[in-house]
Amino acid sequence: MAIPLDRLPPMVNLSSGPFSGPSLELPGPAVFRVRGGTPLRGTVELSGAKNSALKLMAASLLCEGTLELSAVPAIADVPVMADILRGLGVEVDLDMAANTCRLTAADPQWHAPQDAVTRIRASVSCLGPLVGRVGRARLALPGGDKIGARGIELHLRGLEAMGATIIDRPGEVEVVASHLHGAMITLDFPSVGATENLVMAAVLADGTTVIDNAAREPEIQDLCRMLEAMGAHIDGIGGPTLEIHGVERLHPISWATCPDRIEAGTYAMAAALTGGDVLIERVRPSDLTMPLIKLRAAGVLVEEGGNSLRIKADGLDAVNVVTLPYPGFPTDLQPQMMVLLSQAQGTSRCTENVFESRFSFVEQIARMGADVQIDGHHALIRGPVKLHGAHLQGLDVRAGAAGAMAGLVATGETFVHDVHHVDRGYAGFVPRLQALGADIERLPLASVDG
Ligand code: EPZ
Repeated sequence: MAIPLDRLPPMVNLSSGPFSGPSLELPGPAVFRVRGGTPLRGTVELSGAKNSALKLMAASLLCEGTLELSAVPAIADVPVMADILRGLGVEVDLDMAANTCRLTAADPQWHAPQDAVTRIRASVSCLGPLVGRVGRARLALPGGDKIGARGIELHLRGLEAMGATIIDRPGEVEVVASHLHGAMITLDFPSVGATENLVMAAVLADGTTVIDNAAREPEIQDLCRMLEAMGAHIDGIGGPTLEIHGVERLHPISWATCPDRIEAGTYAMAAALTGGDVLIERVRPSDLTMPLIKLRAAGVLVEEGGNSLRIKADGLDAVNVVTLPYPGFPTDLQPQMMVLLSQAQGTSRCTENVFESRFSFVEQIARMGADVQIDGHHALIRGPVKLHGAHLQGLDVRAGAAGAMAGLVATGETFVHDVHHVDRGYAGFVPRLQALGADIERLPLASVDG
Protein backbone atom coordinates (compact mmCIF):
# COMPACT_ATOMS: atom_id res chain seq x y z
CA MET A 1 0.00 0.00 0.00
CA ALA A 2 1.79 3.20 -1.17
CA ILE A 3 1.62 6.07 1.37
CA PRO A 4 1.35 9.57 -0.26
CA LEU A 5 4.58 11.48 0.49
CA ASP A 6 2.73 14.36 2.13
CA ARG A 7 1.27 11.92 4.69
CA LEU A 8 4.71 10.59 5.73
CA PRO A 9 5.81 11.69 9.21
CA PRO A 10 9.05 13.73 9.30
CA MET A 11 12.18 11.62 9.80
CA VAL A 12 12.76 11.06 13.51
CA ASN A 13 15.99 11.00 15.50
CA LEU A 14 16.43 7.27 16.05
CA SER A 15 17.77 7.42 19.56
CA SER A 16 14.59 9.18 20.64
CA GLY A 17 12.37 6.11 20.19
CA PRO A 18 11.04 3.35 17.91
CA PHE A 19 11.07 4.28 14.22
CA SER A 20 7.60 5.48 13.34
CA GLY A 21 7.06 5.02 9.65
CA PRO A 22 8.11 2.47 7.04
CA SER A 23 10.83 3.99 4.96
CA LEU A 24 8.67 4.26 1.87
CA GLU A 25 10.12 7.65 1.19
CA LEU A 26 10.41 6.83 -2.50
CA PRO A 27 7.26 5.40 -4.07
CA GLY A 28 7.92 2.75 -6.74
CA PRO A 29 10.66 0.14 -7.02
CA ALA A 30 13.78 1.09 -5.10
CA VAL A 31 17.23 -0.28 -4.45
CA PHE A 32 19.73 0.09 -1.61
CA ARG A 33 23.17 1.43 -2.60
CA VAL A 34 25.75 0.46 -0.01
CA ARG A 35 29.42 1.40 0.31
CA GLY A 36 31.44 -0.66 2.77
CA GLY A 37 34.23 0.03 5.22
CA THR A 38 32.56 1.88 8.11
CA PRO A 39 32.28 0.15 11.50
CA LEU A 40 28.77 0.64 12.88
CA ARG A 41 28.63 2.69 16.09
CA GLY A 42 25.82 4.11 18.21
CA THR A 43 22.44 3.11 19.57
CA VAL A 44 19.42 1.60 17.84
CA GLU A 45 16.04 1.04 19.48
CA LEU A 46 13.97 -1.83 18.14
CA SER A 47 10.38 -2.24 17.05
CA GLY A 48 7.81 -4.79 18.08
CA ALA A 49 8.14 -8.25 16.51
CA LYS A 50 6.79 -8.69 12.96
CA ASN A 51 6.03 -12.37 13.59
CA SER A 52 4.06 -11.59 16.70
CA ALA A 53 2.21 -8.37 15.75
CA LEU A 54 0.62 -9.93 12.67
CA LYS A 55 -0.80 -12.84 14.74
CA LEU A 56 -1.91 -10.54 17.59
CA MET A 57 -3.88 -8.59 14.96
CA ALA A 58 -5.49 -11.85 13.72
CA ALA A 59 -6.43 -12.74 17.31
CA SER A 60 -8.77 -9.71 17.34
CA LEU A 61 -11.20 -11.96 15.43
CA LEU A 62 -11.72 -13.89 18.69
CA CYS A 63 -13.40 -11.15 20.72
CA GLU A 64 -16.21 -8.62 20.34
CA GLY A 65 -14.76 -5.39 21.78
CA THR A 66 -11.75 -3.33 20.74
CA LEU A 67 -8.30 -4.89 21.07
CA GLU A 68 -5.63 -2.18 21.42
CA LEU A 69 -2.12 -3.10 20.30
CA SER A 70 0.98 -0.98 20.82
CA ALA A 71 4.61 -1.35 19.67
CA VAL A 72 3.18 -2.47 16.32
CA PRO A 73 6.15 -2.39 13.90
CA ALA A 74 5.98 0.13 11.05
CA ILE A 75 6.63 -2.49 8.38
CA ALA A 76 4.86 -3.11 5.08
CA ASP A 77 3.20 -6.39 6.17
CA VAL A 78 1.16 -4.65 8.88
CA PRO A 79 -1.08 -2.58 6.55
CA VAL A 80 -1.56 -5.73 4.44
CA MET A 81 -2.81 -7.65 7.51
CA ALA A 82 -5.01 -4.66 8.35
CA ASP A 83 -6.53 -4.87 4.86
CA ILE A 84 -7.15 -8.62 5.24
CA LEU A 85 -8.95 -8.03 8.54
CA ARG A 86 -10.98 -5.14 7.10
CA GLY A 87 -12.00 -7.57 4.34
CA LEU A 88 -13.27 -9.84 7.12
CA GLY A 89 -15.38 -7.04 8.55
CA VAL A 90 -12.99 -5.94 11.31
CA GLU A 91 -12.78 -2.23 12.06
CA VAL A 92 -9.07 -1.41 12.00
CA ASP A 93 -7.59 1.90 13.14
CA LEU A 94 -3.89 1.60 12.31
CA ASP A 95 -1.56 4.44 13.24
CA MET A 96 1.90 3.58 11.97
CA ALA A 97 3.36 6.86 13.23
CA ALA A 98 2.29 5.93 16.78
CA ASN A 99 2.91 2.19 16.27
CA THR A 100 -0.61 1.45 17.47
CA CYS A 101 -3.52 -0.56 16.10
CA ARG A 102 -7.11 -0.71 17.41
CA LEU A 103 -9.16 -3.64 16.13
CA THR A 104 -12.89 -4.28 16.61
CA ALA A 105 -14.36 -7.53 15.29
CA ALA A 106 -18.03 -7.04 16.20
CA ASP A 107 -19.34 -9.39 13.49
CA PRO A 108 -16.52 -11.00 11.50
CA GLN A 109 -17.16 -12.45 8.01
CA TRP A 110 -15.73 -15.87 7.13
CA HIS A 111 -14.62 -15.31 3.55
CA ALA A 112 -11.54 -13.11 3.07
CA PRO A 113 -10.81 -11.15 -0.11
CA GLN A 114 -8.15 -12.99 -2.18
CA ASP A 115 -5.66 -10.30 -3.08
CA ALA A 116 -4.24 -9.27 0.30
CA VAL A 117 -4.30 -12.85 1.65
CA THR A 118 -1.90 -14.11 -1.02
CA ARG A 119 0.62 -11.35 -0.30
CA ILE A 120 1.77 -12.54 3.14
CA ARG A 121 2.20 -15.85 4.98
CA ALA A 122 0.64 -14.56 8.20
CA SER A 123 -2.79 -14.35 6.53
CA VAL A 124 -3.19 -18.07 7.32
CA SER A 125 -3.34 -17.07 11.00
CA CYS A 126 -6.91 -15.90 10.45
CA LEU A 127 -8.05 -19.52 9.92
CA GLY A 128 -8.03 -20.71 13.55
CA PRO A 129 -9.66 -17.63 15.15
CA LEU A 130 -12.33 -17.45 12.42
CA VAL A 131 -13.32 -21.13 12.79
CA GLY A 132 -13.18 -20.73 16.57
CA ARG A 133 -15.39 -17.62 16.56
CA VAL A 134 -17.82 -18.03 13.62
CA GLY A 135 -17.47 -21.76 12.79
CA ARG A 136 -16.29 -21.21 9.24
CA ALA A 137 -13.39 -19.75 7.25
CA ARG A 138 -12.54 -19.55 3.55
CA LEU A 139 -9.12 -18.16 2.63
CA ALA A 140 -6.86 -18.19 -0.37
CA LEU A 141 -3.66 -20.12 0.28
CA PRO A 142 -1.14 -17.78 1.93
CA GLY A 143 1.77 -15.99 0.23
CA GLY A 144 5.11 -15.17 1.85
CA ASP A 145 8.80 -15.76 1.24
CA LYS A 146 9.82 -18.44 -1.28
CA ILE A 147 12.04 -20.38 1.10
CA GLY A 148 10.37 -23.78 1.02
CA ALA A 149 7.12 -25.68 0.33
CA ARG A 150 5.42 -24.05 3.33
CA GLY A 151 2.40 -26.38 3.36
CA ILE A 152 -0.49 -25.98 5.87
CA GLU A 153 -1.49 -29.64 6.30
CA LEU A 154 -0.45 -29.59 9.98
CA HIS A 155 -2.87 -26.70 10.55
CA LEU A 156 -5.68 -28.56 8.79
CA ARG A 157 -5.05 -31.95 10.44
CA GLY A 158 -5.22 -30.25 13.82
CA LEU A 159 -8.48 -28.48 13.01
CA GLU A 160 -9.94 -31.78 11.74
CA ALA A 161 -9.03 -33.42 15.06
CA MET A 162 -11.07 -30.68 16.75
CA GLY A 163 -14.10 -31.60 14.66
CA ALA A 164 -13.73 -29.32 11.64
CA THR A 165 -14.38 -30.35 8.03
CA ILE A 166 -11.86 -29.25 5.40
CA ILE A 167 -13.24 -28.41 1.95
CA ASP A 168 -10.49 -28.40 -0.66
CA ARG A 169 -10.86 -25.72 -3.33
CA PRO A 170 -8.35 -24.77 -6.01
CA GLY A 171 -5.96 -22.18 -4.51
CA GLU A 172 -8.11 -21.84 -1.43
CA VAL A 173 -8.98 -23.63 1.79
CA GLU A 174 -12.37 -23.72 3.47
CA VAL A 175 -12.90 -25.00 6.98
CA VAL A 176 -16.32 -25.57 8.54
CA ALA A 177 -17.20 -26.57 12.10
CA SER A 178 -20.61 -26.25 13.78
CA HIS A 179 -18.58 -26.27 17.01
CA LEU A 180 -15.00 -27.16 17.80
CA HIS A 181 -14.20 -29.58 20.61
CA GLY A 182 -11.03 -30.28 22.55
CA ALA A 183 -8.58 -32.82 21.10
CA MET A 184 -5.16 -34.40 21.61
CA ILE A 185 -2.91 -33.14 18.78
CA THR A 186 0.71 -34.15 18.22
CA LEU A 187 2.46 -32.07 15.56
CA ASP A 188 4.90 -33.88 13.24
CA PHE A 189 7.05 -30.73 13.41
CA PRO A 190 6.85 -27.82 15.90
CA SER A 191 5.36 -25.54 13.24
CA VAL A 192 4.97 -21.89 14.31
CA GLY A 193 1.97 -21.27 12.11
CA ALA A 194 0.15 -24.50 12.99
CA THR A 195 0.67 -23.97 16.74
CA GLU A 196 -0.69 -20.42 16.54
CA ASN A 197 -3.74 -21.41 14.50
CA LEU A 198 -4.62 -24.36 16.71
CA VAL A 199 -4.21 -22.37 19.92
CA MET A 200 -6.49 -19.66 18.54
CA ALA A 201 -9.05 -22.28 17.45
CA ALA A 202 -8.93 -24.03 20.83
CA VAL A 203 -9.41 -21.05 23.19
CA LEU A 204 -13.19 -20.94 22.48
CA ALA A 205 -13.67 -24.71 21.83
CA ASP A 206 -15.62 -27.08 24.08
CA GLY A 207 -13.24 -28.84 26.42
CA THR A 208 -9.48 -29.16 26.55
CA THR A 209 -7.06 -29.30 23.62
CA VAL A 210 -3.51 -30.58 24.11
CA ILE A 211 -0.94 -29.63 21.47
CA ASP A 212 2.14 -31.81 21.81
CA ASN A 213 5.43 -30.96 20.04
CA ALA A 214 4.16 -27.40 19.88
CA ALA A 215 6.35 -24.50 18.71
CA ARG A 216 7.84 -22.45 21.57
CA GLU A 217 9.03 -19.28 19.83
CA PRO A 218 8.86 -16.03 21.88
CA GLU A 219 6.25 -14.80 19.39
CA ILE A 220 4.04 -17.81 20.24
CA GLN A 221 4.51 -17.06 23.93
CA ASP A 222 3.52 -13.43 23.28
CA LEU A 223 0.32 -14.55 21.56
CA CYS A 224 -0.55 -17.07 24.31
CA ARG A 225 0.07 -14.53 27.06
CA MET A 226 -2.11 -11.96 25.29
CA LEU A 227 -4.91 -14.55 24.91
CA GLU A 228 -4.59 -15.40 28.60
CA ALA A 229 -4.90 -11.70 29.47
CA MET A 230 -8.07 -11.70 27.31
CA GLY A 231 -9.51 -14.49 29.47
CA ALA A 232 -8.21 -17.64 27.79
CA HIS A 233 -6.90 -20.54 29.91
CA ILE A 234 -3.60 -21.89 28.55
CA ASP A 235 -1.09 -24.05 30.44
CA GLY A 236 2.48 -24.82 29.43
CA ILE A 237 3.28 -21.55 27.63
CA GLY A 238 6.88 -21.63 26.40
CA GLY A 239 7.05 -25.43 26.66
CA PRO A 240 6.64 -28.23 24.06
CA THR A 241 3.14 -29.13 25.30
CA LEU A 242 0.32 -26.59 25.40
CA GLU A 243 -2.97 -27.34 27.17
CA ILE A 244 -5.83 -25.04 26.20
CA HIS A 245 -9.01 -25.19 28.25
CA GLY A 246 -11.81 -23.68 26.15
CA VAL A 247 -13.75 -20.73 27.59
CA GLU A 248 -17.10 -19.05 26.68
CA ARG A 249 -15.68 -15.77 25.41
CA LEU A 250 -12.66 -13.48 25.47
CA HIS A 251 -12.61 -9.81 26.41
CA PRO A 252 -10.61 -7.04 24.74
CA ILE A 253 -7.48 -5.60 26.34
CA SER A 254 -4.48 -3.41 25.54
CA TRP A 255 -1.27 -5.26 24.71
CA ALA A 256 2.29 -4.28 23.74
CA THR A 257 3.95 -6.46 21.07
CA CYS A 258 7.11 -8.22 22.25
CA PRO A 259 10.47 -6.95 20.90
CA ASP A 260 11.70 -8.27 17.54
CA ARG A 261 14.53 -10.75 18.30
CA ILE A 262 15.24 -11.27 14.58
CA GLU A 263 15.66 -7.53 14.04
CA ALA A 264 17.93 -7.52 17.12
CA GLY A 265 20.00 -10.40 15.74
CA THR A 266 20.32 -8.64 12.39
CA TYR A 267 21.72 -5.42 13.92
CA ALA A 268 23.96 -7.41 16.30
CA MET A 269 25.48 -9.33 13.37
CA ALA A 270 25.85 -6.14 11.31
CA ALA A 271 27.72 -4.52 14.21
CA ALA A 272 30.00 -7.56 14.67
CA LEU A 273 30.59 -7.95 10.94
CA THR A 274 31.81 -4.36 10.56
CA GLY A 275 34.01 -4.47 13.67
CA GLY A 276 31.70 -1.92 15.29
CA ASP A 277 30.32 -1.09 18.72
CA VAL A 278 26.52 -0.87 18.93
CA LEU A 279 24.02 -0.66 21.77
CA ILE A 280 20.69 -2.30 20.90
CA GLU A 281 17.78 -1.14 23.04
CA ARG A 282 14.28 -2.51 23.63
CA VAL A 283 15.43 -6.13 23.23
CA ARG A 284 14.99 -9.22 25.47
CA PRO A 285 18.44 -10.88 25.48
CA SER A 286 16.85 -14.13 26.76
CA ASP A 287 15.00 -14.41 23.41
CA LEU A 288 18.40 -14.64 21.67
CA THR A 289 20.25 -17.19 23.78
CA MET A 290 21.50 -19.37 20.90
CA PRO A 291 22.50 -16.55 18.51
CA LEU A 292 24.41 -14.86 21.36
CA ILE A 293 26.17 -18.15 22.19
CA LYS A 294 27.29 -18.32 18.55
CA LEU A 295 28.39 -14.67 18.45
CA ARG A 296 30.45 -15.13 21.61
CA ALA A 297 31.97 -18.31 20.14
CA ALA A 298 32.94 -16.23 17.09
CA GLY A 299 34.84 -13.88 19.42
CA VAL A 300 32.25 -11.10 19.64
CA LEU A 301 31.94 -9.14 22.90
CA VAL A 302 28.31 -9.35 24.00
CA GLU A 303 27.14 -7.39 27.05
CA GLU A 304 23.57 -8.11 28.17
CA GLY A 305 21.47 -5.48 29.99
CA GLY A 306 17.87 -5.75 31.28
CA ASN A 307 16.44 -4.87 27.89
CA SER A 308 19.57 -3.97 25.97
CA LEU A 309 22.55 -5.60 24.25
CA ARG A 310 25.98 -4.14 23.56
CA ILE A 311 27.80 -5.72 20.64
CA LYS A 312 31.48 -5.02 20.03
CA ALA A 313 33.83 -6.92 17.74
CA ASP A 314 37.34 -6.86 16.44
CA GLY A 315 37.95 -9.91 14.27
CA LEU A 316 35.79 -13.03 13.94
CA ASP A 317 36.39 -16.77 14.31
CA ALA A 318 34.64 -19.56 12.41
CA VAL A 319 31.76 -21.35 14.15
CA ASN A 320 29.22 -24.01 13.14
CA VAL A 321 25.54 -23.14 13.15
CA VAL A 322 22.51 -25.42 12.96
CA THR A 323 19.08 -23.86 12.43
CA LEU A 324 16.28 -25.42 14.49
CA PRO A 325 12.92 -24.46 15.97
CA TYR A 326 13.23 -22.31 19.11
CA PRO A 327 15.27 -22.43 21.32
CA GLY A 328 17.59 -23.54 18.51
CA PHE A 329 19.34 -21.07 16.19
CA PRO A 330 16.60 -19.20 14.25
CA THR A 331 16.39 -19.88 10.54
CA ASP A 332 15.48 -16.18 10.13
CA LEU A 333 19.07 -15.26 11.10
CA GLN A 334 20.72 -17.82 8.83
CA PRO A 335 21.50 -15.58 5.80
CA GLN A 336 22.79 -12.79 8.08
CA MET A 337 25.01 -15.28 9.96
CA MET A 338 26.32 -16.61 6.65
CA VAL A 339 27.55 -13.12 5.72
CA LEU A 340 29.25 -12.79 9.13
CA LEU A 341 30.92 -16.20 8.72
CA SER A 342 32.26 -15.19 5.29
CA GLN A 343 34.44 -12.71 7.23
CA ALA A 344 35.51 -15.15 9.97
CA GLN A 345 38.87 -16.85 10.29
CA GLY A 346 38.53 -20.49 9.18
CA THR A 347 35.83 -22.80 7.82
CA SER A 348 32.32 -22.69 9.27
CA ARG A 349 29.42 -25.05 8.58
CA CYS A 350 25.87 -23.76 8.47
CA THR A 351 23.09 -26.38 8.49
CA GLU A 352 19.53 -25.39 7.55
CA ASN A 353 16.94 -27.74 9.09
CA VAL A 354 13.74 -25.68 8.92
CA PHE A 355 13.25 -24.62 5.28
CA GLU A 356 14.34 -26.77 2.37
CA SER A 357 15.30 -23.94 -0.03
CA ARG A 358 16.74 -21.24 2.18
CA PHE A 359 20.24 -21.39 0.70
CA SER A 360 19.16 -19.42 -2.38
CA PHE A 361 20.96 -16.46 -0.79
CA VAL A 362 24.34 -18.20 -1.32
CA GLU A 363 24.27 -17.46 -5.04
CA GLN A 364 23.87 -13.79 -4.14
CA ILE A 365 26.97 -13.42 -1.97
CA ALA A 366 28.93 -15.69 -4.27
CA ARG A 367 28.57 -12.81 -6.78
CA MET A 368 30.54 -10.72 -4.26
CA GLY A 369 33.33 -13.31 -4.00
CA ALA A 370 32.17 -15.25 -0.94
CA ASP A 371 33.51 -18.83 -0.74
CA VAL A 372 30.47 -20.99 0.11
CA GLN A 373 30.02 -24.64 -0.92
CA ILE A 374 26.60 -26.20 -0.54
CA ASP A 375 26.25 -29.89 0.24
CA GLY A 376 22.58 -30.74 0.69
CA HIS A 377 21.32 -28.74 3.71
CA HIS A 378 24.88 -27.96 4.80
CA ALA A 379 26.85 -24.95 3.60
CA LEU A 380 30.62 -24.72 4.12
CA ILE A 381 31.81 -21.12 4.43
CA ARG A 382 35.53 -20.35 4.15
CA GLY A 383 36.83 -17.03 5.40
CA PRO A 384 37.85 -14.38 5.64
CA VAL A 385 37.36 -13.32 2.03
CA LYS A 386 37.38 -9.81 0.60
CA LEU A 387 33.92 -9.14 -0.74
CA HIS A 388 33.48 -6.80 -3.69
CA GLY A 389 30.39 -4.79 -4.62
CA ALA A 390 27.76 -6.33 -6.93
CA HIS A 391 24.09 -6.12 -7.88
CA LEU A 392 22.12 -8.43 -5.60
CA GLN A 393 18.52 -9.57 -5.61
CA GLY A 394 16.72 -9.07 -2.30
CA LEU A 395 15.09 -12.51 -2.57
CA ASP A 396 13.12 -12.31 0.66
CA VAL A 397 12.95 -10.36 3.95
CA ARG A 398 16.09 -11.83 5.54
CA ALA A 399 18.13 -12.36 2.36
CA GLY A 400 17.54 -8.72 1.44
CA ALA A 401 18.80 -7.52 4.82
CA ALA A 402 21.79 -9.89 4.61
CA GLY A 403 22.66 -8.53 1.15
CA ALA A 404 22.82 -5.00 2.55
CA MET A 405 24.99 -6.28 5.42
CA ALA A 406 27.42 -7.83 2.92
CA GLY A 407 27.63 -4.42 1.21
CA LEU A 408 28.76 -2.91 4.55
CA VAL A 409 32.05 -4.86 4.33
CA ALA A 410 32.54 -4.98 0.55
CA THR A 411 34.83 -2.85 -1.59
CA GLY A 412 33.08 -0.60 -4.10
CA GLU A 413 29.31 -0.24 -4.34
CA THR A 414 26.70 -2.92 -3.68
CA PHE A 415 23.16 -2.56 -4.99
CA VAL A 416 20.36 -4.58 -3.36
CA HIS A 417 17.29 -4.82 -5.60
CA ASP A 418 13.68 -5.69 -4.70
CA VAL A 419 13.99 -3.98 -1.34
CA HIS A 420 10.21 -4.16 -0.89
CA HIS A 421 11.01 -7.52 0.69
CA VAL A 422 13.12 -5.80 3.34
CA ASP A 423 10.34 -3.25 3.97
CA ARG A 424 8.08 -6.16 4.80
CA GLY A 425 10.12 -7.03 7.89
CA TYR A 426 12.34 -4.10 8.89
CA ALA A 427 11.07 -0.68 9.99
CA GLY A 428 13.34 2.17 8.89
CA PHE A 429 16.16 -0.15 7.84
CA VAL A 430 18.09 2.53 5.92
CA PRO A 431 17.70 5.47 8.36
CA ARG A 432 18.63 3.22 11.27
CA LEU A 433 21.80 1.97 9.58
CA GLN A 434 22.63 5.54 8.52
CA ALA A 435 22.28 6.64 12.17
CA LEU A 436 24.87 3.95 13.04
CA GLY A 437 27.25 5.44 10.47
CA ALA A 438 26.55 3.14 7.52
CA ASP A 439 27.00 4.51 4.00
CA ILE A 440 23.68 3.26 2.63
CA GLU A 441 20.98 4.98 0.63
CA ARG A 442 17.62 4.09 -0.81
CA LEU A 443 17.48 5.07 -4.49
CA PRO A 444 14.75 4.85 -7.11
CA LEU A 445 15.47 1.84 -9.35
CA ALA A 446 15.31 4.08 -12.40
CA SER A 447 18.40 5.97 -11.17
CA VAL A 448 20.55 2.85 -11.07
CA ASP A 449 22.13 1.03 -14.00
CA GLY A 450 22.57 -2.69 -13.84
C1 EPZ B 1 7.00 -18.59 10.68
O1 EPZ B 1 6.66 -19.16 9.41
C2 EPZ B 1 7.63 -17.23 10.37
N1 EPZ B 1 6.70 -16.43 9.61
C3 EPZ B 1 8.91 -17.41 9.55
O2 EPZ B 1 9.54 -16.14 9.41
C4 EPZ B 1 9.86 -18.32 10.30
O3 EPZ B 1 10.96 -18.59 9.47
C5 EPZ B 1 9.16 -19.66 10.64
O4 EPZ B 1 7.96 -19.40 11.38
C6 EPZ B 1 10.05 -20.56 11.48
O5 EPZ B 1 10.48 -19.91 12.61
C7 EPZ B 1 5.70 -15.80 10.25
O6 EPZ B 1 5.51 -15.90 11.45
C8 EPZ B 1 4.79 -14.95 9.41
P1 EPZ B 1 6.49 -23.07 10.26
P2 EPZ B 1 5.71 -20.46 9.31
O7 EPZ B 1 5.06 -23.41 10.14
O8 EPZ B 1 4.63 -20.35 10.31
C9 EPZ B 1 6.88 -26.93 7.46
C10 EPZ B 1 10.52 -14.28 8.32
O9 EPZ B 1 11.59 -14.14 7.68
N2 EPZ B 1 5.42 -27.06 7.61
O10 EPZ B 1 7.13 -23.19 11.59
O11 EPZ B 1 5.37 -20.63 7.91
C11 EPZ B 1 7.26 -25.71 6.61
O12 EPZ B 1 7.21 -25.98 5.25
C12 EPZ B 1 9.67 -15.55 8.11
O13 EPZ B 1 10.09 -13.47 9.12
C13 EPZ B 1 4.79 -28.08 6.95
O14 EPZ B 1 5.44 -28.87 6.26
O15 EPZ B 1 6.76 -21.59 9.74
C14 EPZ B 1 8.66 -25.42 7.09
O16 EPZ B 1 9.57 -26.22 6.41
C15 EPZ B 1 10.22 -16.45 7.06
N3 EPZ B 1 3.44 -28.20 7.07
C16 EPZ B 1 8.59 -25.81 8.56
O17 EPZ B 1 7.46 -26.67 8.72
C17 EPZ B 1 2.70 -27.34 7.84
O18 EPZ B 1 1.47 -27.47 7.91
C18 EPZ B 1 8.45 -24.62 9.50
O19 EPZ B 1 7.29 -23.92 9.16
C19 EPZ B 1 3.37 -26.29 8.49
C20 EPZ B 1 4.74 -26.18 8.36
